[in-house]
Amino acid sequence: MTTSDIARGLEGVNVTATRLCRIDGLKGELVYSGYDIFDLAEHSTFEEVAFLLWNQRLPSSEELAGLQSKLLAERSLDPIIERLLRELHTLVRPMRTLEIAVEVLGAIDRNSSDLTNAQLKQTAARLTAKMATVIAAYHRIRQGLPVVEPRDDLGHSANFLYMLTGREPNALEARTFDVAMVLHAEHEMNASTFSAIVTASTLSDMYSAIASAIGTLKGPLHGGANEAVYKIVDAIGEEQNIASYVEAMLARGERVMGIGHRVYKTTDPRAIILERLGHEVAKQSPDRKYFDLSLKLRDYLAKKLEGKPLYPNVDFFSASVYKMLGIPADLYTPIFAISRITGWTAHLLEQYGDNRLVRPNAVYEGADNRAYEPIEERS
Ligand code: ACO
Repeated sequence: MTTSDIARGLEGVNVTATRLCRIDGLKGELVYSGYDIFDLAEHSTFEEVAFLLWNQRLPSSEELAGLQSKLLAERSLDPIIERLLRELHTLVRPMRTLEIAVEVLGAIDRNSSDLTNAQLKQTAARLTAKMATVIAAYHRIRQGLPVVEPRDDLGHSANFLYMLTGREPNALEARTFDVAMVLHAEHEMNASTFSAIVTASTLSDMYSAIASAIGTLKGPLHGGANEAVYKIVDAIGEEQNIASYVEAMLARGERVMGIGHRVYKTTDPRAIILERLGHEVAKQSPDRKYFDLSLKLRDYLAKKLEGKPLYPNVDFFSASVYKMLGIPADLYTPIFAISRITGWTAHLLEQYGDNRLVRPNAVYEGADNRAYEPIEERS
């Protein structure tokens, strides 16, 4: 074996088979268990997509109602998590808070080490409900506001916005956020999903696998890019600054966040859908400046990067859409996580159902055949 045998970044390596998601990066296609993302964004809800990912088929009305009740039953904020959030909120940013909270949820779940399919599905629903509650409560507590109790009459996405702001979202806000949740739910073998799979492959429990995934999603080359896009657009400030800002970034060898993708070599279909949604939301938003500036930035980059396979990815427009919904920038990546929990747990159901320890090799390129030197003889 030589270093030329290494697949850097595991690019092009198939690590497993899946029935959850297919991506065609050249055509810009994203399909969840046979359903095109454009159809799901138009017709489905987040709860339906969660069912689809956990069962590889769309639910009947009864099945959907059953899942909704399961999520409702898990929506409350556990007292120990509330205490934790009150302790941590001044010290710890939201993604790490979520990572810690997930491990604590595992610690208080007597069934956490039960890896049967039925229990794992229960845990998947529990985490999906509770992670949304944790982020909403964290935001309320850090603002010095009372935690908002979940409402039984709202869907998962509308209830999250309600718990976050204390105000029931209007129909367009609720639908926009729900579509964003659908778009972020699953994306084949991305870095955070792989991280979850590696942890689960040791037969560690689902909570620890999800904590690993959250830690991986946090990075700016992955889910952290949406917050980073916001910072770039914020720093640009006005249209006339786009060229000088971008030129300076590229001259420093920096990447423009929200642009480029390991798999897509055309525009990410999720960015297309988010841009369309953005136009709808902008019509009623008092705060459309970031969205308008993002459109100008996208147009500038299209010319600047012409000929290179660098196009907007999902994070490019999610930032300005969330901004128009009044969501603070440091919650953009946690929001990614509270959607992706469905895809992560779906992959974990597959992994636990047909496990093999993930243990690749490394090509050794260090020194060999060295004589051990006593410490006093080392220079
Ligand atoms: N801005 C400027 N140049 C870029 C960018 C970018 N955003 N992305 C890639 N490039 C350039 C690289 O510098 C490299 O140029 P070179 O060949 O002249 O050295 C070339 O494009 C290929 O880059 P790679 O690093 O080989 O591509 P890779 O597949 O590893 O990168 C990645 C994918 C990490 C997403 C990259 O495009 C990037 O850093 N984008 C910005 C971060 C981002 O938006 N991440 C979110 C991705 S979506 C998600 O995870 C949910």
